[in-house]
Amino acid sequence: MPNTKPIGIFDSGIGGLSVLRRIRELLPSENLIYIADSRHMPYGDKPREYVEKRCLDLTQFLLDQEAKAIVVACNTATAAAIATLRAMFAQPFIGIEPGVKPALALSKSKIVGVLATEKTLKSEKFETLIRRFSDEYRFVTQACKGLVQRIEQLDLDGPATRQLVQRYVSILLAQGADTIVLGCTHYPFVSALIEEIAGPEIPIVDTGAAVAKEVQRRLREVNLLSDTPSPGWEWFFTSGDLDKMRQEVDFLWRPGAQVLSLPAEIQ
Ligand code: DGL
Repeated sequence: MPNTKPIGIFDSGIGGLSVLRRIRELLPSENLIYIADSRHMPYGDKPREYVEKRCLDLTQFLLDQEAKAIVVACNTATAAAIATLRAMFAQPFIGIEPGVKPALALSKSKIVGVLATEKTLKSEKFETLIRRFSDEYRFVTQACKGLVQRIEQLDLDGPATRQLVQRYVSILLAQGADTIVLGCTHYPFVSALIEEIAGPEIPIVDTGAAVAKEVQRRLREVNLLSDTPSPGWEWFFTSGDLDKMRQEVDFLWRPGAQVLSLPAEIQ
């Protein structure tokens, strides 16, 4: 029997749209509910407990909408809260972490650069991830303070964004990195700029497509994939300014999509 219940997806802002895009490509008939927690963005600057509480509230809202699975489309939130979410709720949770593993095969210098929020880079989850490979590889990391906010302004290649990307990418390259991992779901929206600045010989690793595959695998495993022939719908919610979110969804997804405010009690 087709399962048309929606998949819930959330991020601190519009970054997770880079993941939603990949989920839609792979799973055209799934219904998707996306939340941008824009009032509380950026998560990267907040205490872990704060981010965890937001994740619990957003999850509860998505479950109230009968979400059959939840994608935490944010590296920072995954590091802060996925273990708690999995312990508290029975539904499948799919998180995201910097694509360190796929980067290893691409690096000749064995020096891998990672761009992410400070919170992700300092998390125990990230420490554990790189420790597994640190006998053979060196990881150089850079917290990209201010970049999420530029992307939220839809400034994907203006002078201020260029200046930030230039600074952060040069720091990695100066340390010998020959591969760059995008450890924040906002950054794929500036991957063309990163590529332009880093040069064509530096591969850029984004894990959006791998997350989409994992969503498919987990739903198949629990027999919850939608197999209807009709295309799925998308609904977008925000805890922030509704007009701004409409503009962002128009620009990064498509004009005329359904965009709503989250109920006041979880704003
Ligand atoms: N998009 C987010 C991530 O993947 C977080 C950005 C933020 O709110 O700091 O880490």
